[in-house]
Amino acid sequence: MSTDAIVLLKNDHKEVRQLFAAFEQAGDNARAKKGKLVDRIIELLTVHTYIENEVMYPRVREMLPDLEDDVLESYEEHHVADVLVAELASMKPTDERFTAKTTVLIENVRHHMKEECLKILLRGFVSHYLSLDFSGSSLNSDVLRT
Ligand SMILES: [Fe+2]
Ligand SMILES: [Fe+2]
Repeated sequence: MSTDAIVLLKNDHKEVRQLFAAFEQAGDNARAKKGKLVDRIIELLTVHTYIENEVMYPRVREMLPDLEDDVLESYEEHHVADVLVAELASMKPTDERFTAKTTVLIENVRHHMKEECLKILLRGFVSHYLSLDFSGSSLNSDVLRT
C-alpha cells in the first residue's frame, strides 16, 4: 500500500462526502440534479470499493492481522453499499424510493468511511511506513479524517 494509494483513496472519500452534501442540499424537486449526483456517486463508489476489496484490504490483512475483525466488518459494509448501489443503478430519480434509498446509502457509507479511516487506513499507513506496531492502541488523528 503506497502513499499514493492512500492519497487517492483519501481524495475519493473527500469527493464522496462533497457529493453526499450536494445531494442532501438539492431540493425535493431537483430530480435531474439528484440523478446526476447519484450517477457520479455510483461510479466513484464502485471503483473505490473494488480497489479496497482487491488491493488495500488484502494488504492490510497481511500487515496487521489484529485488524482482521475490522477488515471483515468493512467487507460486509462494502457488500451492503454494493447492494444499495446496484438497486439505485436500476432506479430513476422519479421513483418513489430513490431519495430514501440514496439517504440510506449515504448514512451507511459515512459511517463506513469514518471507521475505515481511523481503524484501517491510518494504521495501515503508519505501520507500513514507520514499521511500528500499534496493536491495541486507538489512534485518533486528523491525518486521514476526511
Ligand atoms: Fe471502504
Ligand atoms: Fe474507502
